Amino acid sequence: MSKHRVSRRQFLNYTLTGVGGFMAAGMLMPMVRFAIDPVLEAEAGGEYHASKQKVSDLTNEPKRVDFKFKQKDAWYESDVTQMAWVYKDKEGKVVALSPICKHLGCTVSWKGNPDYPNQFACPCHGGRYEKNGKNIPGTPPTAPLDVYPTKVKDGFLYFGKPKPNNIVK
Ligand code: FES
Repeated sequence: MSKHRVSRRQFLNYTLTGVGGFMAAGMLMPMVRFAIDPVLEAEAGGEYHASKQKVSDLTNEPKRVDFKFKQKDAWYESDVTQMAWVYKDKEGKVVALSPICKHLGCTVSWKGNPDYPNQFACPCHGGRYEKNGKNIPGTPPTAPLDVYPTKVKDGFLYFGKPKPNNIVK
């Protein structure tokens, strides 16, 4: 009989240590990556993405604004295009709403339903929202449209990461 035969107990020990180590690495790696990757850190700290929209050209009518940016995820970099509905409120403050419906994620349009010309409408299940993003009771969405934090630099509009809408009273 060979001296190097692994007992059942040893085999179990090796296997469990291996699996445990693998799982621990799986949990730790994202934390390590987050700590050392400046791009991801910037994202968490609230990176803003430039658009070609001049703030001086905005009116009180919601306008679709598209913007593009590069998203880096570990080794993979991709081009992302997002859009917002943007207008100036009565005080001249910029309001930028996410177009993602809070029901099941379809894309809403301003004046999307001709029967409700001053609302956002979702084409999927008839969801509707007021101009400030507030969901209309009796339609499927149960929350207001998210809002983008915005910044202005050299007259152009920059978009942050969408957040829950607290402009809706
Ligand atoms: S996804 Fe918009 S109403 Fe259902």
